[in-house]
Amino acid sequence: MELFSPVNSKFNFAEMKMEPEGELITRNLTDMDWMFKDQRAVEKLKAEDPQIYRYYNVKIPEEKGHLQHCISVINPGKIGEEYYMTKGHFHARKETAEVYYTIQGRGKLLLQSVTDKKPEVQVLEMEKGSLSYVPPCWAHRCVNTGNEELVFAGIYPGDAGHIYGEIEEKGFARLIVEREGRPAIIDNLKYG
Ligand code: F6R
Ligand code: ZN
Repeated sequence: MELFSPVNSKFNFAEMKMEPEGELITRNLTDMDWMFKDQRAVEKLKAEDPQIYRYYNVKIPEEKGHLQHCISVINPGKIGEEYYMTKGHFHARKETAEVYYTIQGRGKLLLQSVTDKKPEVQVLEMEKGSLSYVPPCWAHRCVNTGNEELVFAGIYPGDAGHIYGEIEEKGFARLIVEREGRPAIIDNLKYG
């Protein structure tokens, strides 16, 4: 393995961005519009195309032994009754885990098992200070249920890789929506 130099990154809360920026990936509504339940609400907002989330990847070799790490920022908001969320994915190397550390805001971490059996769904709370463990073989999506940006760090093996296609197509078996002013976990009737 080549010697890689130690590196520091810092999240600038005044400007809500990472410094140095690293690789910045932004997801606007039109990058994921089909993933939201309420397609009428999507149509109304499409022209405006709000940013749903962004994440700042520190550039680290995608190799075993390294640790990828990034800071994600999910904006507050809803499409219809469904909160802003990440697309969600599972790792290409399914046996790789991840740790999320919530730095600001409030949300839910939606986890769905990726095995041959019927998927199991679990939800973990994300709030300032939460350290959430995503074990191997769980797809994961973060949902901002609060009224400020949800900011969290993700740390995972260098060679984990990401698979989006299946979730882009099938979604998760549950959705996180606002009902009577509070987050509710409901079945995704379109799942599968
Ligand atoms: C990395 C990871 C997170 C997400 C980020 C954006 O394995 O889980 O850093 O990549 O929160 O979400 P996605 O990748 O689902 O668009
Ligand atoms: Zn991940």
